[in-house]
Amino acid sequence: MTDTSPGLYGSDGQRRLQAAALAGAGAAREIPGAVFAARMAGTDDPDRLGWDRIAATLRDEGAITFRMIPTDACPEVERRLAEIGCVITWWDVFDGPRDTVRATCDALLASPGDDLVPAGPQACTDPGLLEQVQAFMAGRGVAPYPAQVLSGQTGPAFLAVLTDPADGSIAATAFTYFPYNRHSPHHATAWAGLVAVRDDMRGRGVGIRVNALALRQAVGDLGADRVQEFARTTNVASCRMIERCGLRLRADLRSGIAQPAGARSFTR
Ligand SMILES: CC(C)(COP(=O)(O)OP(=O)(O)OC[C@H]1O[C@@H](n2cnc3c(N)ncnc32)[C@H](O)[C@@H]1OP(=O)(O)O)[C@@H](O)C(=O)NCCC(=O)NCCS
Repeated sequence: MTDTSPGLYGSDGQRRLQAAALAGAGAAREIPGAVFAARMAGTDDPDRLGWDRIAATLRDEGAITFRMIPTDACPEVERRLAEIGCVITWWDVFDGPRDTVRATCDALLASPGDDLVPAGPQACTDPGLLEQVQAFMAGRGVAPYPAQVLSGQTGPAFLAVLTDPADGSIAATAFTYFPYNRHSPHHATAWAGLVAVRDDMRGRGVGIRVNALALRQAVGDLGADRVQEFARTTNVASCRMIERCGLRLRADLRSGIAQPAGARSFTR
């Protein structure tokens, strides 16, 4: 049955995972090895979280995200998952330190190459706009986050929305928040993502601008020491956009989503 709780968005499966992630937010902020990944359960240290718990999550919820796994440990993660009938799709990890990200994004944002208008902070907590943002992301293949996370109710966060001055419609989105808890070496690292640009506006620097708006806030008001983003190697536009904003590929780390073998790909 569809979970129609306020703030959730997407398919029945996506809503179920979001509801479970919200319900487990407190635990994800406390348990060593757990990550508050907003659209599903997560871990940045599978041995510390425990493979029994990971197997139970995959059995009960159908997905879990692995974050910041050393590349040389990935084959062992794949082997453990295969033992329980699951597979993982990996993303490349990009990250950068505060000063580099700040200087790069300030330079990018100094002269916007478009007339798009950023939505104000107040608008970004409006339930109507948040639902439009979720629909916009989903329409571009990006699995959305619950509105509670996008609006900052679950912790410090920033949602960047660029609107079309012609009609006020959404032209681009990006988001940043802190997924890692105090036990993690990444606890002061913000994650950024959910970047999507209207199809007819691509290839003109809009992605770079909206991403830079989110990253600038992460290392500014939100106080992150570092920022990270994930993208599939094959998503060339996304990888280029991330690098243009001052982040560098971390060949030593990977992140990904584990699901039962044969399940439909969860997000871009
Ligand atoms: C990824 C995405 C946000 C990029 O937005 P965009 O506005 O088209 O990107 P930009 O115009 O800012 O370009 C960013 C960089 O990528 C390059 N680029 C853009 N589209 C490209 C393409 N189709 N192939 C190769 N490079 C591309 C640009 O040339 C630019 O690099 P450069 O400055 O070195 O020339 C957009 O394509 C999108 O919404 N994709 C669907 C959702 C998605 O995949 N999100 C990312 C999830 S990880």
